[in-house]
Amino acid sequence: MSGIFKRVKGFADIYGQDVARFNIMESCARNTFAKYGFNELRTPVLEQTGLFLRSIGTETDVVQKEMFTFPDRKGRSITLRPEATAGVMRAFLEESLDRNNPVARLFTIGPMFRYERPQKGRMRQFHQINCECLGSQSPYADAELICMLLNFLEAIDIRSLKLKINSLGCKKCRPAYMRLLGEYLHSQAGEAFCDDCRRRMDSNPLRVLDCKQPHCRELAAAAPRLLDHNCEECRQHFDVVTELLSSRNVDFEVDHNLVRGLDYYCRTTFEVVSNEIGAQTAVAGGGRYDGLIAQLGGADVPGVGFACGMERLALLMPEPENRPLDFYMLSIQAEQRPRAFELAQTLRKAGFFGEMNYEDGGFKGLMRRVSHSGARICLILGPDEAASNSITLKDMETGRQTGLSQDDLCAGLAKALNMPEKA
Ligand code: HAM
Repeated sequence: MSGIFKRVKGFADIYGQDVARFNIMESCARNTFAKYGFNELRTPVLEQTGLFLRSIGTETDVVQKEMFTFPDRKGRSITLRPEATAGVMRAFLEESLDRNNPVARLFTIGPMFRYERPQKGRMRQFHQINCECLGSQSPYADAELICMLLNFLEAIDIRSLKLKINSLGCKKCRPAYMRLLGEYLHSQAGEAFCDDCRRRMDSNPLRVLDCKQPHCRELAAAAPRLLDHNCEECRQHFDVVTELLSSRNVDFEVDHNLVRGLDYYCRTTFEVVSNEIGAQTAVAGGGRYDGLIAQLGGADVPGVGFACGMERLALLMPEPENRPLDFYMLSIQAEQRPRAFELAQTLRKAGFFGEMNYEDGGFKGLMRRVSHSGARICLILGPDEAASNSITLKDMETGRQTGLSQDDLCAGLAKALNMPEKA
């Protein structure tokens, strides 16, 4: 086969301004989360398949259709993580991450993999910023986590988002609600539910509530509401979460059909959505998952968390400002290059940012290169300058040229750039 290799479908190269956006997201995430006492955790991208089956749920789209699962060389089934929560729970148990603090606050940043149909904002490899707070049942944990998410979104300069919130109830009150929902769905069975919903009606009726098909949505809108069937404790929990959010002037909308696509949730669920990025509107989603750690063989440790999709956030972020290079060190001939190399290194050590040329060329061509680099000052080192231990500074904006002794280069460059003098 000839020709160059292409990316695997649904996998992207991230470069240019998008890399700048990813870097801003990561540093704002680290800064914001540190203010809330969260610690970073890096988990592997590969886990045993069973971990995802047991945590995400066998009736979910993620497990049924979207996992990259394959046998390793010894025939053991492994899966590229489709989300971070399951791996964080595994690490929490395996590394006893609540050793020093009964409430473990953990965040992780990295690639996830889901075999979905690629479209704008939906990739097969995508990146999440994921936070989990483990060890407290308190509604303060939910409210603080949501506030932290909103602080982060503000820090990366994304506005005009909507927060939706709901409560899925708990193992005490949900079964009765599920029966009621099942009865309602079956009573409407003569209506034209889509194929997926017809199948889910028995296997996972909650998922019918968030089907995107217009007709299914109409039917779901008239279904019994989760919040109306929460037990007293769940209702109180939800009330405190929403009161805490209101007390901080956080705008939210109660969305009775917000059930989320993974099976581990109970009580609070939430999503942050945007109507500016096409069909894939959710930029972040999360909720409480009190039974999950026990389900994975641990103690009965409650938890709440969320994840943001970095590709979707990148679509909403403003154009990042890039720091231009301070200098371009231009040696005209090979004879001046060793000295140019030395001076450029000295300048970087002093804190300046710059590039140098490695090859000879016509003066015009070389200057075009300097111009493309975006450097503010071109430092020209030709045979005349070399002979007199000097260097020429050309301001690329004004075109003004001045000569300088090589010994005064750091101070001269700082002055030309209007910077305080570097040491
Ligand atoms: P999720 O809703 O499946 O939740 O994903 C969270 C976010 O990841 C979504 O809101 C979206 O922004 C992004 N995302 C998901 N799939 C894709 C994709 N194929 N392409 C691009 N972006 C995508 C979870 O993953 C839960 N583990 C969140 C959580 C943490 N719940 C509790 N703790």
